[in-house]
Amino acid sequence: MTYENSPAFAQKLDQQDPLRHFRDRFHVPQRAGKPLTYLCGNSLGLQPKAVRTALDQELTTWQNLGVEGWFDRTESAEQPWLGYHNTCKEALSQLVGGEPSEVCPMNALTVNLHLLLATFFRPTEKKYKILTIKGDFPSDQYALETHVKHHGLNPADTLIEIAPRSSNGESTLGESTPGLIHTTDIQRAITENADSLAVIWMSGLNYYTGQVYNMAAIAETAQRHCIPVGFDLAHAIGNVPLRLHDWGVDFATWCSYKYLNGGPGAVSGVFVHQKHHEQNLLRLAGWWGYREDRRFEMAPGFLPAPGADGWQVSTPNILALASHRAAITISTEAGITALRQKSEQLTGFLEYVLSPFEEIQILTPDDPNQRGCQLSLLVRKRGKELFNYLTQQGIIGDWREPDCIRLAPVPLYNTFEEVWRVGAIIGDFFKKLER
Ligand SMILES: Cc1ncc(COP(=O)(O)O)c(C=O)c1O
Repeated sequence: MTYENSPAFAQKLDQQDPLRHFRDRFHVPQRAGKPLTYLCGNSLGLQPKAVRTALDQELTTWQNLGVEGWFDRTESAEQPWLGYHNTCKEALSQLVGGEPSEVCPMNALTVNLHLLLATFFRPTEKKYKILTIKGDFPSDQYALETHVKHHGLNPADTLIEIAPRSSNGESTLGESTPGLIHTTDIQRAITENADSLAVIWMSGLNYYTGQVYNMAAIAETAQRHCIPVGFDLAHAIGNVPLRLHDWGVDFATWCSYKYLNGGPGAVSGVFVHQKHHEQNLLRLAGWWGYREDRRFEMAPGFLPAPGADGWQVSTPNILALASHRAAITISTEAGITALRQKSEQLTGFLEYVLSPFEEIQILTPDDPNQRGCQLSLLVRKRGKELFNYLTQQGIIGDWREPDCIRLAPVPLYNTFEEVWRVGAIIGDFFKKLER
């Protein structure tokens, strides 16, 4: 698409946008009666209006039925709480590109990562290492490190961390500057360490740089060497199209408070590939992962429910699931293909309006196939001042130390005009500095 840096051009794109009505389904935060330009869906998505109704509905069921809410919904056509998680599966399977039996909403992301590592990180004397990305989200690093220690191993000998190439273009292991990673470096590291690798765990989309990794290629290399591979999809789900089943990804987890708009601390979910469903894999079990038809026999000895459901542990939080379900179905109603199409244009437009500013270096790849909606801007001089100015002017992004502003125009609720405004306000900021 050829862009023009003018409000009229942005308004024209908004008028032509087939998803424009979805914005009305969200509460856009306001300041002094004016909507903020909210570009922070990479951190917390906006509140869908449907969430309050969904919560109210379950509060009413609780009020009227008490414990019977688990089993009986005679008063409405809705699902009893016992199988409530099933009503999220169709949408989740579309969002991750899997079968409904491969997904289950549950817990929070890091909790799920611990549960999945308990299954998929089974070190042996020969195969005991974990391959990951240097500088991935800290919670994942802590989870990996502590699993390693639980097995009596030393993180320094066990974790292989892929880092961005150094300035002379060589592949490096162990440097910590945030930067882009070459897929071939990941594939090479898998191949070179195949004999000692027990598992691969990494983000699908890097939270800092906004880079989308080539999950299909990485999973293909991992499968060739029979190494289980899992992805943290916190920043990928609802943002970029995923085909976990076809790619042969073994396991994954995500959160739903970013691009799925489930609410602060909203419920996470897991993906476990069908190829593992019949294997009765070792796991950290709880009664909610027990076969649903026999759970209330309360018998000794764990019998896992089929599919991803068998990784559930505790009674689900129905209010959290109600909000989750109301939110995720908006994304599937819009459709990930249509969302992606708009997202590429919206982020491309943001890149375009930022292009005149020499002071801003965009860290995120310029190739749309290697990014989602987020752009990470490195502003080495006066970055924090710029960030504060944007906030004052009602543009909400987020700041990552030491010099990075992350802006994420979200196709469900952001407009081209908002993106144009970001460029105009940044222009004002730099003009003021010249004076
Ligand atoms: C990439 C990534 N991984 C993991 C987490 C941690 O998620 P949780 O706090 O839900 O466990 C986050 C949180 O923002 C994240 O962005």
